[in-house]
Amino acid sequence: MNFGVDSGIYPLGSCTMKYNPKVNEALANLDEVRWVHPDQDESEIQGILEIMYKLASWLAEITGTHAVSLQPAAGAQGELTGVLIIRAYHKLNGELGRRDEIIVPDSAHGTNPASASMAGFKVVVIPSGEDGCVDVEALKEAVSERTAGLMLTNPNTLGIFEEDILEIADIVHEAGGLLYYDGANLNAILGKARPGDMGFDIVHVNLHKTFSTPHGGGGPGAGPVGVKEHLEGFLPVPVVSFDGERYYLNYDLPNSIGRVRSTLGNVGVLVRAFAYILSMGPQGLERAAEVAVLNSNYLARRLSEIRGFTLPYGEKPRKHEFVLSCSVLKSETGVTAKHVAKRLLDYGVHAPTIYFPPIVKEALMIEPTETEPVESLDRLVEAFRSVSEEAYSRPEKVLGSPYNTSVGLVDEVKASSPRTLCITWKMYKDRLRTSERGSR
Ligand SMILES: Cc1ncc(COP(=O)(O)O)c(C=O)c1O
Repeated sequence: MNFGVDSGIYPLGSCTMKYNPKVNEALANLDEVRWVHPDQDESEIQGILEIMYKLASWLAEITGTHAVSLQPAAGAQGELTGVLIIRAYHKLNGELGRRDEIIVPDSAHGTNPASASMAGFKVVVIPSGEDGCVDVEALKEAVSERTAGLMLTNPNTLGIFEEDILEIADIVHEAGGLLYYDGANLNAILGKARPGDMGFDIVHVNLHKTFSTPHGGGGPGAGPVGVKEHLEGFLPVPVVSFDGERYYLNYDLPNSIGRVRSTLGNVGVLVRAFAYILSMGPQGLERAAEVAVLNSNYLARRLSEIRGFTLPYGEKPRKHEFVLSCSVLKSETGVTAKHVAKRLLDYGVHAPTIYFPPIVKEALMIEPTETEPVESLDRLVEAFRSVSEEAYSRPEKVLGSPYNTSVGLVDEVKASSPRTLCITWKMYKDRLRTSERGSR
């Protein structure tokens, strides 16, 4: 009854559900990894500290940053760590009161504005241009002496590379702000381009996406954060350092934002990422990005030729993912992105991400990753074609799907309504009290 990336294509856009080599699991499960504890004497845990130190330095090299904290447990926590660093930086410069705005494009993942606002900033949303990229004129109007920073992912959530990134970085830096890179889309540019070279000051990496850790359903993950040299002193503590002879937990960072998670972070995930990078090597990582982009463009072309589906924001090549719209299908047949996603399950493939990014109507966001062979991409195309044909001939069939899954069409409104479901003990007792009162 289960479906995973080992069973077939899992084209969940923005999630990079690539195949996870089993050797990484075996290594993360070695006793020498599982049974060490950060409170042991450092002389006893030199091995794991060495792994952490090397992983952090490889991630710094890959992202073009100077120093990396491995602590954050997810992309979203990496973002929060990053904006807390932005906050601490402006505070140290005596500008925090004045710099209270973080700029975010309207194509951003919801965690970006959420993280900025959790760190106490106001969120300023700027529109995307007709090409799907940041509207540079709108950015110029939005920056001011109140700008604390900009959060951006590149390629963006439409899978389009922000070609004006150097100009964007200059605009933000000239206004006194910092640039934050949301690394969810790093798989597209691995070994090809580095956020640090694009002008970003702070970068997070979703190890569970790009560096092949099984994820979904809530974890586990890791969202290490890299910073340029001028921000190194703000990283969470401890970081793992090396004095030429031994590895040690370094708490000596003058302006550290403090600890954001347990000492070393999510060690099992970190070891998997270490093993993955080691086994791929620099050429392997670069090749992964190339094939991910090739797969994505192959699918973008073939799927956008199917009746009812279009590729908004032009024909420009996409990077590792792309966003289809089925607005035409909806207006001509009544079948929406949600229905397409449900019916695809009946054809034995996983559904794509839907209704994200919000700037595309009836969005289906597709990321095949580099680990799917062409046969598997073709299978997805055939599934989409069948759904389209059905939508035009027997729409009611699609509207009632799925049929071949262990659970049929669920009532989503009912599932999310506190009136129907009783999900806490307190709710149960309250309800019991009300019904007792009613029967009295
Ligand atoms: C573009 C983007 N940014 C940030 C995140 C947050 O990452 P995480 O799920 O690891 O918290 C995601 C997650 O899907 C994402 O797609």
